[in-house]
Amino acid sequence: MHTQITHPESGLNEMVESPTRHESWRMFDRIARRYDLLNRLLSFGRDVAWRKQVTEFLPEGDRLQLLDLATGTTDLLISVCHGSGRIENATGLDMAEKMLRVGQKKIVRERLNDKSSLVRSDAQSLPFTDNSFNAITIAFGIRNIPDVPKALREMTRVLKPDGRAIILEFSLPKNRLMKRLYLFYFRHILPRVGSLISGDAYAYRYLNQTVESFPYGQEFCSMMEEGGMKIVGLKELTFGVASIYTGEKPATKLFGSGKRD
Ligand SMILES: C[S@@+](CC[C@H](N)C(=O)[O-])C[C@H]1O[C@@H](n2cnc3c(N)ncnc32)[C@H](O)[C@@H]1O
Repeated sequence: MHTQITHPESGLNEMVESPTRHESWRMFDRIARRYDLLNRLLSFGRDVAWRKQVTEFLPEGDRLQLLDLATGTTDLLISVCHGSGRIENATGLDMAEKMLRVGQKKIVRERLNDKSSLVRSDAQSLPFTDNSFNAITIAFGIRNIPDVPKALREMTRVLKPDGRAIILEFSLPKNRLMKRLYLFYFRHILPRVGSLISGDAYAYRYLNQTVESFPYGQEFCSMMEEGGMKIVGLKELTFGVASIYTGEKPATKLFGSGKRD
């Protein structure tokens, strides 16, 4: 499918391929160099504060094994490792090699290389055995994965019993005025600024279209439950522009009727 976009500089119209989540990681490889700068600019620095809040939802216990999915340039992994002294080991996983390369440099700079490692792999088919991690985090990543139910099931599989998945993702404000203001910014200003700085018109049109079409609030909690998790928290951030969802892998299996024949 194609859609028409208007170039911010020239004002010319162009027919381009419509955004799709299929292999979205290729697009992140294209914008890897400017990704962090654009995050800070386009969220007015809020993304840093949102990632910091993820640490509050870690499960109890010391020596936690952490997996950060769709880790990208590793901002969340770094934020959680610095925010909690309880992380023994952190693994970041992403499909985009260039994002990971930027992330690896940051891990060294932050002196976290002793306890962190990065893996290039697909979140829909995790290269880990069952019950491996105490916590799985994912920031602004779940929306970009083509088969979300599959990724959620994989997260449940590799979590230890009572382990937690903490998902930070964009959502839409409930307040009607806030929602209108936000959507105006999101549809008209963000794609133009994003396109100018990254040189990639597709990427920032993709951002606003995927956010507007992705389930949030209770609808997304239901998806996590279908993936085998028990919801233990839903927190809206900055008027509901983003949300943190926390799900736990039950110590006993949630599936089945529990009836005996
Ligand atoms: C918006 S970025 C988020 C990066 C980082 N978590 C952050 O907070 O800035 C989304 C990331 O999802 C990754 N991604 C997309 N599809 C993926 C998949 N199937 N498996 C693993 N990572 C994927 C992209 O490569 C990209 O780095």
